[in-house]
Amino acid sequence: MATPMGTVDLFGQEYVLDPFPVWDGLRENAPVHYEPDTGLWLVSRYDDVRAVLRDTRTFLPDNAMDAIGRFSMPTLRVLARSRFALPPTLASNGGESHAGYRRVMTRLLNAQAVTAAVPMIERVTGECLDRLEQRLDADGVCDLATTLARDVPLRVLLRMLGLEGAEDVGLDTLARWGDASLELFWGRPDAARQTELAGEAADFYSWLRGLVTAPGAASGTLLAALAEHRLPDGRPLRPAESAAVLYFIVIAGQATTRQMLSIMFRRALGEPGRWRRFAEEPDGVEPWADEVLRREPPITTWRRVTGRPVTLSGVDIPAGAPLLLMLASTGSDPEVFDDPEQLCPHRPNRRKHLAFGVGRHRCSGAELARTEADVVLRTTAARLPDLRLVDPSSAPEMLGLLSFRAPLRVLVERAASHPGAGRDAAAR
Ligand code: HEM
Repeated sequence: MATPMGTVDLFGQEYVLDPFPVWDGLRENAPVHYEPDTGLWLVSRYDDVRAVLRDTRTFLPDNAMDAIGRFSMPTLRVLARSRFALPPTLASNGGESHAGYRRVMTRLLNAQAVTAAVPMIERVTGECLDRLEQRLDADGVCDLATTLARDVPLRVLLRMLGLEGAEDVGLDTLARWGDASLELFWGRPDAARQTELAGEAADFYSWLRGLVTAPGAASGTLLAALAEHRLPDGRPLRPAESAAVLYFIVIAGQATTRQMLSIMFRRALGEPGRWRRFAEEPDGVEPWADEVLRREPPITTWRRVTGRPVTLSGVDIPAGAPLLLMLASTGSDPEVFDDPEQLCPHRPNRRKHLAFGVGRHRCSGAELARTEADVVLRTTAARLPDLRLVDPSSAPEMLGLLSFRAPLRVLVERAASHPGAGRDAAAR
C-alpha cells in the first residue's frame, strides 16, 4: 500500500538516533500509516492513540507481548525446555481475568504504598550513590546507565514486591535476563542471536517458576498474593500463570525505569545550568521529569489489534490488523502541546501525556516510576552538583527496539574543580 510517508525503517540507526522528524512527518502526512515490512499500522496522532487505548472492546491488547519476528526451531526448542509460556495475565489480557490480576498489582503499587516506600527508595539511592562516588574517586568516570539508573529501580522493585531474597541471584544476572527478553520479543535478532537470547529468557523463566512453586511465601508479598489469587471461575493460578506475571513485572518494573532515568540524566546534564538548578531547587525536578516523559518516553510504542474493521483519521483498517501506537509521537503533537519540542515544566497540561498509556491497561507502576525519577534525580544532584557528561557533544549510542529507546551509556565525571577530577583524563 502506497502512503505519503514511503517506508519507515523502525530499526534503522537514523531513526533510532533521531526519530522526532519521522514522528512529525507521520502525524502531519500519514497519521495512520501501513508499514509493509512489519505488517504494522502506525498510529501517531494524540487523539487517535488515546481513543484506541480507551476502547478495549474494539482495539484488543492481545498482541502486546507477541514477538516481532518468528522464532526459529532451535529457539523454540530452547524455550520449550524451560516450559516457557506467557498466558495472558496483565498487558496482553483482554479477558475477564485481567481485573483480578490488576488488583494484585494495585495492592502492592498504589499511591499510598509508593508514598510509604519513599524512605526505602531514598536509602537504596543513597547506597547506590556511595558506590558511584567510590567509582568516580577510583576511575574518574562512571556510566550512570549501568550503575545508578540500573540498580535503583531493580532493588526498589524487588523490595516493593517482597522479593528481596531474589537479589541473591545477582543484579547483573537479573538485568541481563531482562535485557535479553526485551531484545528477544521487541528486537530483530539474527538466528544465532535469537537462540542465544532465548537461552537467557529460558534461564530467567525457570528461575521464576522455581520462585512461584516454592512453598511458604511470606504474607504481604507478590508471591503470597499470587498463591491466594483466584480466577473468575474460582480456580487458583497455575505455575505458568504466576510465572507469567512475575516475568512481565520484573521486566516492566526495572528496564523501563532504567531507560527513563538514563534519558533524564542525559538531558539534565546536557542542558546548560539544569543540573545545578536541581541541586539548588529540588522541587523543580518533578515537573521537569514529567515533561521528559512527554517528549521522550522510554516506551516509544505499544501494540493493539483491531477486533473489527475500523476507520481512524479517515483510513480504513481491517479486522485483525496489528496497530503500533506511537506513544512518543503523541507527546509532541502540536494540536495538544504548544511548542512541543520545548520542555516547559509549567505547561498546564503536562500530565496529559500518554507515556504510561491510559484506560484499563494504564501502567500500574506509573506512580512508582515517577517517584523514583524524583528521588534519584534530586538526591544525585544534591550530592554531586559538580557532575558533568564526559561527551556532551556526541550523540549517545541508543538502545533501539520496536518499543524501547534510551541511551545505552551515560558517562559522567566530576567537573575539574573537584580534587579527584581530571585524574582519569590521561588514562582514557
Ligand atoms: C518509566 C517507566 C515506565 C513506563 C514508561 C511504563 C509504561 C507502560 C505502558 C505504556 C504500559 C501499557 C499501557 C496500556 O496498554 O495502556 C504499561 C503497562 C504496565 N506497566 Fe508500566 N511503565 C513503566 C514502569 C513500570 C513499573 C515501574 C512497573 C511496576 C513496578 C510497571 C508495571 C506495569 C504493568 C503491571 C502494566 C500492565 C497494566 C495492565 O495491563 O493492566 N511499569 N507500562
